[in-house]
Amino acid sequence: MNKLSIDALDLAGKRVLMRVDFNVPQHEDGTVRDDTRIQAALKSIRYVLDQGGKLILMSHLGRPKKVKDDAAKLALLKLDPIAEYLAGLLDGVKVTKVDDIVGADVEAAVAAMKAGEIVVLENTRFNEGEEKNDPELSAALAKLADVYVSDAFGTVHRAHASTEGVCHYVDQCAAGFLVKKELDYFGGVLNAPDRPLVAILGGAKVSDKILVIENLLSLVDTLIIGGGMAYTFMKAQGHEIGKSLLDEAGIEVAKKILAMAEEKGVKLLLPVDNIVADDFSNDANTMVVGLGEIPADYEGLDIGPKTLELFLKEINAASTVVWNGPVGVFEMEKFAGGTKAIAQALAENPKVTSIIGGGDTAAAVAQYGLADK
Ligand code: 3PG
Repeated sequence: MNKLSIDALDLAGKRVLMRVDFNVPQHEDGTVRDDTRIQAALKSIRYVLDQGGKLILMSHLGRPKKVKDDAAKLALLKLDPIAEYLAGLLDGVKVTKVDDIVGADVEAAVAAMKAGEIVVLENTRFNEGEEKNDPELSAALAKLADVYVSDAFGTVHRAHASTEGVCHYVDQCAAGFLVKKELDYFGGVLNAPDRPLVAILGGAKVSDKILVIENLLSLVDTLIIGGGMAYTFMKAQGHEIGKSLLDEAGIEVAKKILAMAEEKGVKLLLPVDNIVADDFSNDANTMVVGLGEIPADYEGLDIGPKTLELFLKEINAASTVVWNGPVGVFEMEKFAGGTKAIAQALAENPKVTSIIGGGDTAAAVAQYGLADK
């Protein structure tokens, strides 16, 4: 987990190409609805400006491929409103938005920069080479930079031209403060965790998280599985799950994970009861049923009270908790109880270090006003 970090670089007068994750929720007119990700990048942005660097920012926004035939929708994915928003946060700093990510105009705008100024490139995904991690695009991006900084924590798992490819063509690449903070926390957890170490996993698909789960099984004392993926595990154990979310492809994976947990001596906890509903809505009829008792026309949408008690016992005794994925459909009040109670238990436990990741889980914790705890 040791990485060169931004504060080890000499940035004065340098062209600093920084990948940020400005993939923010937008209003219908494309303006910024939630600036959490912009705020999160400010520390690195201000640092570069204070050090006298010339800052070139790049980010993707949304998934342009999905709306490529709809010019109006595509236009809403331009980074102009985001550049404008950023300029508003950095009073007095010159922020220039360009309409491309590479090419003569971009190079000219960068060449004209003075120390302490910002150029914001266009949505990186407007260029076909981005998601293909095209070496030509990576090299063209690298031409803009003396140094490269990776601070797009929400996107570092993608091997795209602006996140990974470009690093092969720039001599000095470093982590920004946001990425550094995550690495410091995760480094601690992975190298020498305070035990007991408990992982809570939710989310829909087991097959999406197989590698994460396999890695966690070598590390954790207890693995708690809640949320949508729990029903695939229940199915794998032969229980009826009614209309609950099922990841067909994940059934075999779930069986393998159950066997691995046993082999490694990891305590793996699954729900023993659930709140089930006859409709995916806040107005649905609901009831609490035990394991294997979900009626054919009902679906599980939250953990039940006995499960919560079981999970909280482990969570309250933990020294470190890693949590990814809500345990219920927390967006609907009727099914938010489990996720909310876990967030509260973590916030109220002074002995536990909790690392909460994934957009939904972080949003849940923020929604309950517990993020700073
Ligand atoms: C995110 O919002 O999860 C990141 O910005 C990555 O976006 P992506 O899933 O479209 O790659």
